[in-house]
Amino acid sequence: MRFLDACRRKRTDRVPVWFMRQAGRYMPEYRKLRQKWSILQLAKTPELACEVTLQPIDAFPVDAAILFADILLPLEPMGAKLRFAPGPVIDNPVRAAKDVARLRDFDPDEGLGYVAESVRLIRRELDGKVPLIGFAGAPFTLCSYLIEGGPSDDFRTTKAFMAEQPQAWDKLMRLVRQITADYLWMQVRAGAQALQLFDSWIGALTPEQYRRHVQPHSRFVLESLRGSGVPVISFGTGTGGFLEDFASAGGDVIGVDWRVDLDAAWKRIGRKAIQGNLDPILLLGDRKPLKEAVADVLRRSGGKPGYVFNLGHGILPPTPVDNVKAVVDWVHAWRPS
Ligand code: CP3
Repeated sequence: MRFLDACRRKRTDRVPVWFMRQAGRYMPEYRKLRQKWSILQLAKTPELACEVTLQPIDAFPVDAAILFADILLPLEPMGAKLRFAPGPVIDNPVRAAKDVARLRDFDPDEGLGYVAESVRLIRRELDGKVPLIGFAGAPFTLCSYLIEGGPSDDFRTTKAFMAEQPQAWDKLMRLVRQITADYLWMQVRAGAQALQLFDSWIGALTPEQYRRHVQPHSRFVLESLRGSGVPVISFGTGTGGFLEDFASAGGDVIGVDWRVDLDAAWKRIGRKAIQGNLDPILLLGDRKPLKEAVADVLRRSGGKPGYVFNLGHGILPPTPVDNVKAVVDWVHAWRPS
């Protein structure tokens, strides 16, 4: 299958393409389900999670499916009070060592068994059509939600925590990294054929903060999955200032955002596959600049084995469905000259 082959740096007939957040609010089919069900209900009901996962597969000839879930789901069985209002809110954020001590380790088959059930159901329904990607949040991004209590512009509470309470930070990251590794292993046992670790907000850090407070923990997760037999994509945004360090933490495929040139980024990453990096904002606009930008990204891939076309970050809710379809077709029609 061309997506899995590209992850393993094997030559493929066409460039494989999928989109981060390809199931979601930009699709009318998703919005219709959301009128009836909350995001947590969708994620916790395997039949509904399966239906949402398949919506983009039925609409576009993308080369991979991504499990419908959310990176924040593991926070609940850890003891966080998570709700979506509509953005995520954690009512009992972690602010001190005593809050870390109250968090629980858990068996993912018990705390997140519904995700395993979704994976099994989706695999059955996909019936080999395209591979299924499982995923989790990377330790930094996950802990930033735990500490901030929701999204943040500047991560000031998280940065203060890591700098001023380094022992509590270390304890928190060790707990989260173990849960994340166990959770991803559970997804592989259930049938996930590739994994993506989302470090969506890692670019907020200085290179030194990343190396000192985060990289060992991301490395733990990525290393622990080596024996799983499935390719692992390590995705981060804003990693341009420390891309070599980010790539050296592990992963078979490095996901990069639009703030770097794909060819220059690939040189810095070295002997790994690369995924990215169209600016998702371009999907909101006119076809001509969109097509030119897609062509530019493809040209920078050089037609080399080990490239997966994607956006630099997730699809935005106002994205026209027709633009998504057009991009898939352009990518599949492309041949290196
Ligand atoms: O196709 C897919 O990728 C769907 C599965 C998926 C969701 N969330 C469903 C979702 C995935 C892979 C995620 C990952 C996720 N969740 C990330 C990392 C990816 C990224 O974009 O950086 C992050 C940071 C989250 C946390 C999260 N979940 C936020 C900040 C929000 C609210 C903002 C938003 O994007 O709506 C969510 C809710 C969420 N998760 C939605 C979906 C489809 C929207 C919920 C809705 O229908 O209202």
